[in-house]
Formats: sequence, structure tokens, C-alpha cells
Amino acid sequence: MASLRPEFHTEAQCLARSEKFLAAKKELIRSLEESSAKIRGVRPASGTEGARQAYSELITRYVSERGRELYFPFLGSGIGSGPYVELMDGSVKMDLITGIGINFFGHSNPEMISEMIDGIAADPMQGNLQPGVEAHEFSEALLSRLGGGSRLRYVWPMCSGTMVNEVALKIIRQKRAPATRVFAFEDCFAGRSTAMQELTDNPKYREGQPVYGEVFHLPFYSKTAGLERSLTLSLGRMREEIKRYPNRYAALMIELVQGEGGFNFAPREFYVALFEEAKRAGIAVWVDEIQTFGRTGELFAYQKFNLNEWVDVVTVGKMLQACAVIFSEEYNPKPGLVAGTFTGSTAALRTARKTLELLSDGYFGADGKIERLSSRFVRNLNALADGECKGMISDVRAIGGMIAFSPFSGTMDEVKSSLLRFFDNGVIAFQCGHGPYSVRLLPPLGAMTDADVDVACRIMGECISAIGAERRLS
Ligand SMILES: Cc1ncc(COP(=O)(O)O)c(C=O)c1O
Repeated sequence: MASLRPEFHTEAQCLARSEKFLAAKKELIRSLEESSAKIRGVRPASGTEGARQAYSELITRYVSERGRELYFPFLGSGIGSGPYVELMDGSVKMDLITGIGINFFGHSNPEMISEMIDGIAADPMQGNLQPGVEAHEFSEALLSRLGGGSRLRYVWPMCSGTMVNEVALKIIRQKRAPATRVFAFEDCFAGRSTAMQELTDNPKYREGQPVYGEVFHLPFYSKTAGLERSLTLSLGRMREEIKRYPNRYAALMIELVQGEGGFNFAPREFYVALFEEAKRAGIAVWVDEIQTFGRTGELFAYQKFNLNEWVDVVTVGKMLQACAVIFSEEYNPKPGLVAGTFTGSTAALRTARKTLELLSDGYFGADGKIERLSSRFVRNLNALADGECKGMISDVRAIGGMIAFSPFSGTMDEVKSSLLRFFDNGVIAFQCGHGPYSVRLLPPLGAMTDADVDVACRIMGECISAIGAERRLS
């Protein structure tokens, strides 16, 4: 409502501008900020043994409802402050993963809350037949940031990363029919639907599910092999497949920085060579930016690698708060192929537009906030690896706000026990990679300071060195 253009004199706009509404909104945000300000750092669960017992019972009840253990005993209270999040037991943790990359601007962000309040009179959900002005404003904001040379032209918002990937695949297949096959990459992740679980290179995620034989996983760039050898391998396989199935490959789907796969990325030349090969065969270049969007030091990772002109379809989600598929004129589908009851909540579309606005302010480029904090993480983690955690931390790596390292020898057990120790001591992180495994950080850099980075690294370092000491004793 607040962002509507002045020439529209709707009741919704009048409400959002009315003195009463503005005063109430101010008061609401002020009282939220007062509560949020009490969350100043990591703290243990509050209260008595009885309160701890009540929290444990709450978790048990939720676990029995969902039929599956939680990764961490985490039930949020609904409030936080920047990188800190409060749980229902009153404890406060520093959240370096934010639900695998959702809250780049931290918890209880007043600017996001202000957007949600502005949408207070709107119907909660929007859809194909019921778009609100927020859907337009979100699409317009996204389209205005695609970068020079991009051929992307249209936006479809949907409710999840998996769904926008489904739409991407459908529109490409429609255009390239009867071609149906897809090139993806070893270790990639694409989502959880029937089609996306086949694109995802992890057989554990499709146990008991049919596989339709439509996907070929190319080797991704390997740092150890280097550029020339990686290209020989990947291009060689690609050419063999194209020859084996002429005109049957519709898409090349790639995460420019593999997320779940372990934050692997390649030099630009690797992508260009593969994209050129794809273009020669009429294969669509589809970049999955659901995890990379906004994080690598440019808004889109394809901008970071200067690949604007190659991309036919891109999918975004996570930190954006809404998900969308963006595509060129050529891939605009025929009516009937793409629709959906829900395209997103009004709050999500508003906060997505706000996210784009906030990101425009000093985050990107070599001197941007993302690069500055990312370098600090890397420096601190390398200092631990050379100092108090010598021999216990290796392979510290980062591209912008995607930061990872391997604890001990990088087995799944070592990563999981490190993550649980971090959690108990007030830091939430997650895993990535497929052996060696790594600790994955997608920190809310938009809400962090240098001091927060130091606290995070100190706690992780203390945990790793305590585990190391215990291992030496046993
Ligand atoms: C690269 C990538 N693609 C797709 C997805 C699926 O997104 P969602 O979990 O929103 O369905 C994810 C989620 O982690 C992802 O990281």
C-alpha cells in the first residue's frame, strides 16, 4: 500500500496513509523493537527445570506430529534481533543458516515488519486469478535489476523454489519439444518434486521413487583437476550425449555455485565453454539461483561471473522471500501451461520487493558489505585453522555470503557432531558437500557487524577445539 503510485486513489492507499494507521503502525513497530532489543546476544534457556521439561515436551509433541526427528531441537518463539533468534525455551542463538538461507536481513527486521503491516488489509494469499498490486511491484523490481546484456524478460512468482524449477523445466520442454532430456551436474540440488528429485544428484533423496532416465549428470568443475582437465571431461561427456541423443536435450541446468553440493564454483571460462556448446545444440541455459541469489557479491550469480547474455531462464527464491522464474521472450509459454492457485502471500511479495530495495544499498561489489564480512569470516576461520584449531579445520572457502569449512577429516559424523556442539553453545549452522562434508554458513550478513562475525567464529572455534580435546582423551 505505501508504495502505490500517487495517481491511484484506492481505499487501501488512503488507509495506509491515514494518520490513525500511521500512528498505530509506528506504535506497533516501536513495541516490537523494544522486545527485540532485549535480545542482545547468545543466552541459555531461561527458567527452571520445569520450564526446560516443558520445552522438551513441546519438541516431542511436534516430532510426533511430523513423524520425524528435527535436525536440531529448534522451535522458534517468533522473535529475534538481527542474527539472533529466540527459541521457545527462552534461549537465544546466533543463526548462521536462517532456515537454509531465508533471512538475509536477520530476524525481526523492522523494515520487513513495516511491509507486513502495510499489507495488513490485504487478502493473505495471491494467485494466478487474484494478483494484487504487490505481484506487479515485485515483478517490476526484479526485471529492472537483470543487468546489461540480459535477455530475460518475464517473471512468474510461485510459492517455492521447487515449483519455480518445475515451471522452468516445463517452459523449456514446451519450447524444445520433442526434446525432453536435461543436463545437470554431479552433486547438484534442484528440489523435492518428482522431476526435481531426478535432477538432484543424490539417490538418497529419491529412495523408492521412479527415475525416468531424463537427466544426465555432467562432472562439475574440479579445483584439483583444474580448468583444462575439468573442461575436457565435462565437454567430452556433453558432446557424447548430444551425439547419442540428437535433438533430445532440452536444457542445461546449473547452479553457478553449488549450494547443497558444497559451495563449489568454477572459473568463468568453464561456464562459457559449456554454455557455448549448449547454444550450438539449441539447448536452453537454465541457471538455478535459488540459493545463490543476492549472496555471491552481485544480485545474480550470473552477474558475478559476467554471464548475462547466456542465460535463457533463471530461478530465484530463499533470501528473496518469494520465489520466481524469469525467462526470455523465446521461452514465454503458451497459455495453459503455467498457473497456480497460490503465487505467494501478500506479505512475501511485499517483503520480496523490500529485499530488492535493501540489497541495492552498498552490499555488492569488491567494497560491498557482503565481501567485507565474508573476508572477515575467512580470515577468522583461517586463523583458527592455523592456531587453536590446528589440524581440526580445513578447506575454508567462501564466495560472498556462502561460507564453508571442513571440521576434522570431514566425515558426516564429524560435521554433525560439530553442528550439534555449535547449537548447544549458541550457534546454528548446517552441512553441505557429499564427502568430504562441510559446515555450511549462509549468515544473515544484512544484519551482521564485524563484532558478530568475531563472536560466531569464536564460538565455533571453542566448540571444535573442545571436541578435539575430548577426542585426544578418549
Ligand atoms: C539450488 C536450489 N534449488 C532448488 C531448491 C528448492 O527450493 P525450495 O526448498 O524452496 O523448494 C533449493 C533449496 O534448498 C536450492 O538450494
